[in-house]
Amino acid sequence: MILVQRQSERTNIVYISTLPEKIEQIIKERKQQFQQDLTDNTTNQYVAQDEHLLTDTIITLALGKNILLKGPTGSGKTKLSESLAAHFGQPVHSINCSIDLDAEAMLGFKTIIEIDGKSRIDFVEGPVIQAMKKGHLLYIDEINMAKPETLPILNGVLDYRRQMTNPFTGEVVKARPTFSVIAAVNEGYAGTAPLNEALKNRFVTFEIPYISGDVLFSVLKQESILQDERLIRQFVSLSADLTTLVESGRLPEEASSIRALVDACDLALYIPPMRAIESAIAGKLDDEREQAAVRNAAETWF
Ligand SMILES: Nc1ncnc2c1ncn2[C@@H]1O[C@H](COP(=O)(O)OP(=O)(O)O)[C@@H](O)[C@H]1O
Ligand SMILES: [Mg+2]
Repeated sequence: MILVQRQSERTNIVYISTLPEKIEQIIKERKQQFQQDLTDNTTNQYVAQDEHLLTDTIITLALGKNILLKGPTGSGKTKLSESLAAHFGQPVHSINCSIDLDAEAMLGFKTIIEIDGKSRIDFVEGPVIQAMKKGHLLYIDEINMAKPETLPILNGVLDYRRQMTNPFTGEVVKARPTFSVIAAVNEGYAGTAPLNEALKNRFVTFEIPYISGDVLFSVLKQESILQDERLIRQFVSLSADLTTLVESGRLPEEASSIRALVDACDLALYIPPMRAIESAIAGKLDDEREQAAVRNAAETWF
């Protein structure tokens, strides 16, 4: 299962270059281990614009290091993580961080179960403990949305020790060697705090920007139900204009979200493109002037 094919003649999309033999071996071994647990996930992979992103993230994970993906909303951070997990043949356990995230949401909770008419206390393992014990991939989304005091509990899990004492049970949990961690952040987004240094230190960081041009075209073709290539090209052009507006400060970064663009393309299969753009892109912006800027850009293409 390869993430994407080799360089194609028509586009400048870049694909995984040859990996060192040792890394290929690690990937092969993991795939054999997790074959039974996997749901088939070979289609709809993350497509990279940066020629080295896929190779470098695969090598980082194979070396047992944690990855931090930095990028705006809808830039494909979750998609990339799922694609990497699929590449390693590893199931994923996720945590969605928020100010409400607590130790129970990460590690699990106690509950009462009945066995042969007798009640006893049982522990339901949360995503962190499950991923560690099964050697799966742990995906920590919006890691900078968590309260700063919540995450230090994971410090031992995230460094070379790869272990923790479960505060609810006293059990010392050791991660299986294939256990890996990917976290995602959207820096500067409302409600987020800068990641604390000790935490940041435990990750290898990669930037995930919005894609554009031919790469975007192929992603829209892959992700959207819209298959009209002429129309998809128009959406790619619109995206380029929105990006220019973002760069000049007239639109917030999320206005050029790939997720919103996929939504607009999907709608455009059934309703006129301008209406699709209104709901999927313009309508999400709070400011009247920003909405008007999106409409103006769209009118030049549709
Ligand atoms: N480079 C990409 N390759 C494939 N799909 C992408 C890419 N970038 C964005 N997408 C699409 O955008 C949607 C949102 O991506 P997602 O991974 O959820 O973003 P994020 O986690 O960064 O907010 C995905 O479901 C996918 O359809
Ligand atoms: Mg996401």
